Amino acid sequence: MVQYRLPMLPLSEEVDWAATVNGNGVSTRMESNAILLDVLRDSLGILGTKRGCDMGTCGCCSILVDGSPRLSCLMLAQEANGCEITTVEGLSEGHHLHPIQQTFAECGGSQCGFCTPGFLVVISALLDENPKPSDIEIKTAIEGNLCRCTGYQQIVDSVREASSILCDGSGVGDSTDPKSDPHPGFAG
Ligand code: FES
Ligand code: FES
Repeated sequence: MVQYRLPMLPLSEEVDWAATVNGNGVSTRMESNAILLDVLRDSLGILGTKRGCDMGTCGCCSILVDGSPRLSCLMLAQEANGCEITTVEGLSEGHHLHPIQQTFAECGGSQCGFCTPGFLVVISALLDENPKPSDIEIKTAIEGNLCRCTGYQQIVDSVREASSILCDGSGVGDSTDPKSDPHPGFAG
C-alpha cells in the first residue's frame, strides 16, 4: 500500500558530554547531534556567546576551541567533547579585563552586545599568537566577524591599543586595572 506521509526522523540518541569551559570542568547529557552553541547557551547557561545568523556568516557565535576560533553555530558539540573551550566570559583574569575588552570600551570598538563577544574572542586569539599584528593582519583576522553599527576603524584602533598594552605590559592579567564584577556570584 502507498504511504502518503513522510516517515518521522528517528530520535537521536542521548550521550554524555564533557569539556573544560573557561577553566571549569563541565558535563551534561545531550542529543548526539546537538550544536555546540545550543549546549553552551541552553544547557550550560553560558550566555555571552551570541546567536546571530545561525548559519555561519556573522561571527557572533565565535568561541575558541583548544585556542582556535570556531563558529559554535556550525559545530557539533561532540566535536568539542573533551576540549578546552573559551567564551567571552573566559577572557578576563579575575577582576582584570583582557586588554582588548578594555580598549573596545575606550576606543568605541563596540556598540551592541551581539557582535562584540565574537570580535573579542577572535581578536584575543590573534593577539595571543601575534601580539603586534599589522593592520592587514588585524583586518584579515576579523574578516569573518560582521558589525552593522560602528564600522571597523574603531575596532582596528582597539586592537592596536590592546597590542601596545600587551607589548608594554607583563601579560593579560596585570596589564589592565582591576574592575569590580558587574555580576557577582555568576560563575559564567
Ligand atoms: S551565529 Fe554563528 S556565524 Fe552567525
Ligand atoms: S556593535 Fe554589534 S553589530 Fe556593531
